[in-house]
Amino acid sequence: MTAAPEADYAARRARLAARMQPGAVAVLPTAPETTRNGDSEYPYRHDSYFYYLTGFKEPDSVLVLVAAHGERPARSILFCREKHPEREIWDGFRYGPQAARDAFGVDEAHPIDAIDTELPRILANAPALYYALASNAALDARVQGWVKAVRALARSGTTAPDAFHNLLPLLDEMRLVKDDAELAIMARAGAISGQAHARAMRAARPGVFEYELEAELLYAFRKSGAQFPAYTSIVASGANACVLHYNANDRQTRDGELVLIDAGCELDGYASDITRTFPVNGRFSDAQRTLYELVLAAQEAAFAAIAPGRPYSGFHEAALRVLVQGMLDLGLVDRSLYASVDDAIAAKAHVPFYMHGTGHWLGMDVHDVGAYRDTTHADKPSRPLRAGMVLTVEPGIYVRPGEGVPEQYWNIGIRIEDDVVVTDDGCRILTGNAPKSVAEIEALVGRGE
Ligand code: GLY
Ligand code: MN
Ligand code: MN
Repeated sequence: MTAAPEADYAARRARLAARMQPGAVAVLPTAPETTRNGDSEYPYRHDSYFYYLTGFKEPDSVLVLVAAHGERPARSILFCREKHPEREIWDGFRYGPQAARDAFGVDEAHPIDAIDTELPRILANAPALYYALASNAALDARVQGWVKAVRALARSGTTAPDAFHNLLPLLDEMRLVKDDAELAIMARAGAISGQAHARAMRAARPGVFEYELEAELLYAFRKSGAQFPAYTSIVASGANACVLHYNANDRQTRDGELVLIDAGCELDGYASDITRTFPVNGRFSDAQRTLYELVLAAQEAAFAAIAPGRPYSGFHEAALRVLVQGMLDLGLVDRSLYASVDDAIAAKAHVPFYMHGTGHWLGMDVHDVGAYRDTTHADKPSRPLRAGMVLTVEPGIYVRPGEGVPEQYWNIGIRIEDDVVVTDDGCRILTGNAPKSVAEIEALVGRGE
């Protein structure tokens, strides 16, 4: 398990506290455990915000942060499960407050069962409370209970917070720009996922079932220590590739088809997100190659539009221009109707074949947090990129059968997706080991171990 050093979590807590009102309190619970059926739980996954500030992965935990006020320094307080020798026989190790305080560098730790008595004390006389406002009814109700308990002390002169702020936007902005520890984990996640795609390509042959290729991916993720897939893997053969969120993964492939795989692991809390598309028999047909190279060229144009100071929207626009020019050249979009690429884009002529954006922020969540627009300006322009932001670049083309659509392209769906970090002078690809050129793919598919 790699994780950020303990000092990094403390530094993140300090940065957050410095952005809060003096003396204000922030409350941040982790995710609950969720029952799957009977006595069986879904695999536990911590809350991303909570983990970002603590590195602590146990359920039933709450982080409380008190911002500095005058002479009083900021404080971080962790509520977590108590040690429980009997439960630990069944469910495994738990830190307990004392060991958690030492291991995770918080100032205080208490049993989670004490939270309803401790929190009103912490909130007494605090001017403001930050939490995930109006995003979770159960939390809203608990907050109300804690604040009411403070208000009940009004006769003694104790004041309750009377300002409530949404905590999440502050954290979103912090999470959007990754630090070195995060980038190191994301690079490793990208490399593991790249290896997994190569493994699936090697295992491909006409007649293989989509789920067999999915199994190769999952094997490669776990074999390298990744804890989960970052999202449900898409293994889409033939016409299934034109279904953007296909994940039944139960069809048998046929000779001559493409397979689109969109899959990435989650490693130590961080996602990767790769798509590759390849011919199941190891040879692109002319029509497949033509569309594949168009998508590849669109991705190259997108990479060239990524650098600090450039607007987020730029790489989508760059990819779209290449794709739409190709659609006009290949007769997917009727040339006689549009005077230029810009005209075709303005008329949304590409939407039947390219209906999604070219990427998204990537981090602890596969569609990671962070604003895409600068909402402080009236016209809300696309925000400028900054070094340390991580995003996906995923152009594609999806051709469903239709009148006027050249038949040789019917049912071809192609997407090529890589993860990049914005650097000081451009971007660096984190997933470059996933084979991508026509030559690399044709050399690898079906090669076996
Ligand atoms: N795998 C989800 C996405 O590409 O956005
Ligand atoms: Mn993606
Ligand atoms: Mn994806």
